[in-house]
Amino acid sequence: MSEALVFLNGQFVPASQAHIAIFDAGIVLGATVTDMTRTFRQEPYRLSEHIARLYRSLKYTRMDIGLSPTELEEISRKLVAHNASLVHPEDELGLVHFVTAGEFPAYAGSAGRAARLRPTVCAHTFPMPFEFWSEKMARGAHVVTPAIRHVPPQCYDPKMKYRSRMHWYLADKEAQLVDPDAVSLLLDLQGNVTETGGANFLIAERGMVISPTTVNTLPGVSRGVVMSLCAQLGIPFIEKDIQVHSVMNADEAFLASTPFCLCPVTRINGVPVGEGRPGPLFRRLMDAWSAEVGLAIDQQVFEGARRRTSGAGASSGAGSAHAAAATPVLGATVPAGASASIAVGRSR
Ligand SMILES: Cc1ncc(COP(=O)(O)O)c(C=O)c1O
Repeated sequence: MSEALVFLNGQFVPASQAHIAIFDAGIVLGATVTDMTRTFRQEPYRLSEHIARLYRSLKYTRMDIGLSPTELEEISRKLVAHNASLVHPEDELGLVHFVTAGEFPAYAGSAGRAARLRPTVCAHTFPMPFEFWSEKMARGAHVVTPAIRHVPPQCYDPKMKYRSRMHWYLADKEAQLVDPDAVSLLLDLQGNVTETGGANFLIAERGMVISPTTVNTLPGVSRGVVMSLCAQLGIPFIEKDIQVHSVMNADEAFLASTPFCLCPVTRINGVPVGEGRPGPLFRRLMDAWSAEVGLAIDQQVFEGARRRTSGAGASSGAGSAHAAAATPVLGATVPAGASASIAVGRSR
């Protein structure tokens, strides 16, 4: 059996050999930008939109990776085609891109070799863990607004997709003290609702979809799809500041994000949103989105979760096809062993 590949600093390497230095600024400073694309029927979905956002993040952080968006897109398609051939035919892949600022010069010298000061550039895939989302998709996610606030754009702009997520990590811990199943929904310093650590947040009120503005949230690709589906379906989509009071009194609420596309939200801070169950606007949007991609997205989550957790045809995680000896494919090469290094793992 062949092994999944990772694109790392210009080479395709077997996943088990994909290492970055512990001196990398991604580790030392959290200086990393990222993006994540998913597949439908094992073909990347809206890849060029994700790559375009990655390049906007790179420009903002002044990182030059020496590849054009078209070149990175070609590399990514090859990687997905190879890695998809190793998983169950009904699995889908998440494709992660991340770029760090390269090795942190003050520490890197201690490795006894020249520091790699250029950006670290990586693309890797993982089989999508549908079981993470199936219960939330069926019953609705619960959100809790913790005391921790979102980073204001005066610090760094949340229009960039970045990895320094300590505030979200702490926020989730705090939210889960209130409700162990909750996802934290961060407020900004003024008390307006922003986003979760992995999704845009939307509400439905009197037949309209209302979104927080992108002043302090990521312009999500999925949120963009919701906007265009709303236009197709004649549903008004507006952007404005919303507070917890508006969410508690909304008819419905949703999370929009690449892995699951759209997920109902049925509780905020312990209070049911609308009827406290997935509502009709969720259904209309989910059906329209499913028609666009040619498969029932929520059913795929349910069936994928069942398949992966029953063990029947499971290809989950870093196991199976990711573990065996490498067959050189796409010119994969194993770099000379890096002594102090961190394996490139699965990511959100
Ligand atoms: C902070 C944040 N907001 C929103 C999203 C949703 O963006 P997209 O729909 O492009 O996946 C993500 C995705 O990971 C995210 O990290």
